[in-house]
Amino acid sequence: MENQKIHSKSIFVFDAFGTLFKTSEIDAELQNIAKDKTENLISIWRKKQLEYTWLRNQMNKYAPFSQVTKEALDYSMRVNGLKNPRIFDLLLPIYDSPNLIDGVREALDFFQEKTICILSNGTRSMLENGVQKTGIGNFINHIFSVDDIGIYKPRKEVYQMALDKLEVSKEEVLFFSSNQWDVSGASNFGLDSVWVNRNNEVKEGLPFGNVFEFQDLDEFRS
Ligand code: LAC
Repeated sequence: MENQKIHSKSIFVFDAFGTLFKTSEIDAELQNIAKDKTENLISIWRKKQLEYTWLRNQMNKYAPFSQVTKEALDYSMRVNGLKNPRIFDLLLPIYDSPNLIDGVREALDFFQEKTICILSNGTRSMLENGVQKTGIGNFINHIFSVDDIGIYKPRKEVYQMALDKLEVSKEEVLFFSSNQWDVSGASNFGLDSVWVNRNNEVKEGLPFGNVFEFQDLDEFRS
């Protein structure tokens, strides 16, 4: 029953970075600059990027995700003793002009009779660039950026913003994210949530509401 219930929902709301768009791209030039520090550079960058959003929420000191992402990369470079400014040119486009995770296009095409939305910490330009560049614009009905309220996920106001803008109830929505902190936030807010656990992560010691775990969007739709 549960599975049928979630598949019958009319509104699918997707997290963006890590769920639809890639958050790591390592090319030869970056490897050549960062060498054995490449992996550490990327992982500390992503960790700090998210940490800074949570801390800024606590301090009510919102800054756009583009700024937070750059500040986190700057920190990771300093921690790794990397000074080459070319690193900014190579890595910031991951967010300013993102690429699609494999399988996402096929999944969005399969869901096309649904109302499909993006709800993301990303700035509106990041998200619009990503949708336009990856050619998924004809699948996406609404883009919601936290830039509109100056608060980051997983604060409940962000999920409420999507409901308000759509003028729908929680029951009509199915939320999708690969980020456990986001799945925790959305499911605690009261949204039935799909955790797209592509990396077979161990479940965090966080409070979760109604969560349905799938390895990827293919498994969800099969
Ligand atoms: C997003 C990622 C950061 O909000 O969870 O797109």
